[in-house]
Amino acid sequence: MKFKTFELERNMSVWEHAVNYNLSESGVHPLALKEVLTPEELEEVSELVLYYTEANGTAELRELVAAMYPGATPDHVLITNGSAEANFLCTMALLEPGDELIYMVPNYLQIGTLAESIGVTVKPIRLRPEQNWQMDLDELNGLVNPKTKMIAVCTPNNPTGAIMSPEVMAEVRRIADEHDLYLLSDEVYRGAELSGVESPTVYSGRKKDIVNSGLSKAYRLPGLRLGWSVTDPDTIWELWTLHDYTTISLGIISDTVASKVLQPDRRKDLLGGTTEFLRNNLAILTEWIKSQNGLFSFIPPEAAAIAFPEYHLDIPSVELIEKVRDEKSVLIMPGDWFGVEKHVRIGYGTPRDFLRKGLSLMEETLASLR
Ligand SMILES: Cc1ncc(COP(=O)(O)O)c(C=O)c1O
Repeated sequence: MKFKTFELERNMSVWEHAVNYNLSESGVHPLALKEVLTPEELEEVSELVLYYTEANGTAELRELVAAMYPGATPDHVLITNGSAEANFLCTMALLEPGDELIYMVPNYLQIGTLAESIGVTVKPIRLRPEQNWQMDLDELNGLVNPKTKMIAVCTPNNPTGAIMSPEVMAEVRRIADEHDLYLLSDEVYRGAELSGVESPTVYSGRKKDIVNSGLSKAYRLPGLRLGWSVTDPDTIWELWTLHDYTTISLGIISDTVASKVLQPDRRKDLLGGTTEFLRNNLAILTEWIKSQNGLFSFIPPEAAAIAFPEYHLDIPSVELIEKVRDEKSVLIMPGDWFGVEKHVRIGYGTPRDFLRKGLSLMEETLASLR
């Protein structure tokens, strides 16, 4: 089986450590272990014996994750290596050649590209800028047919930072229920809302609802590689069957740290810090976009450390970001790798001076293209 290149991740892997100004990250600037653990907890971690941990995640951690979703129990949870593994398991275990997947676009494209690679027909349901990056419900209804097996969404969305509206969520759930479809929601940006109010989860406890998420973005801990799937225990068993072949289990250090960080009060504090960081930095980016004299049209994100402005220049997005990268050593991501042209994704979750410097360097290349 030949897998299509996951352009976004491959390019980030190659370039993010090679450039001077990496504005390609979608999460808020990561935290150090000593910023999230007390000295006593750090000591505890240093004394951990490095056993294999429970392959599906420790009961304590699964209990904490389950508490975030209505009606879920520890048996509804599989702990994975990042939400990337959770997405991989769901795609590979639940979809087969000939199935149809209705897939939100723009998107991170991991699920869509992987599904195409294994012979699934992927039907995009487009988020419309003129509808504040919501989807058209008539269009969604028109995409369902007897071959449809799953609807996969991402809310808050990467790259737009838009949160699925209550009306859209209700209709997506209704359609999934009526046609007995899997409804897979990638919610790795949930908890990183600029309003400070956590957005609703798509998960309602229906047998075929699945949520994938993790600690990489809103919790600022990507290096833990901690993710999860929450769904019906029978489906968890199916995902776990594949997980035995992928990574067996999570690292015990990550499981232990996550079990502390996800205690309800700690979690709240952490997410509060994320919101404050996002608000301060989005102000810098918005100011900069305004100062570009109409070069960009911009719907501000509601969540996540990413903005997805449309640019008004006559150049394809991949070419544009390569020019900025090669001339100024600043890395941003092209709309093309999210399924939408003439946009760029700018990560604003870096320290502020770093963000300012990266933007001002980019400005010089943009000015030369006007
Ligand atoms: C929507 C989305 N899902 C999943 C991932 C993978 O995240 P991780 O495996 O670090 O949890 C990313 C990373 O950028 C993402 O944007």
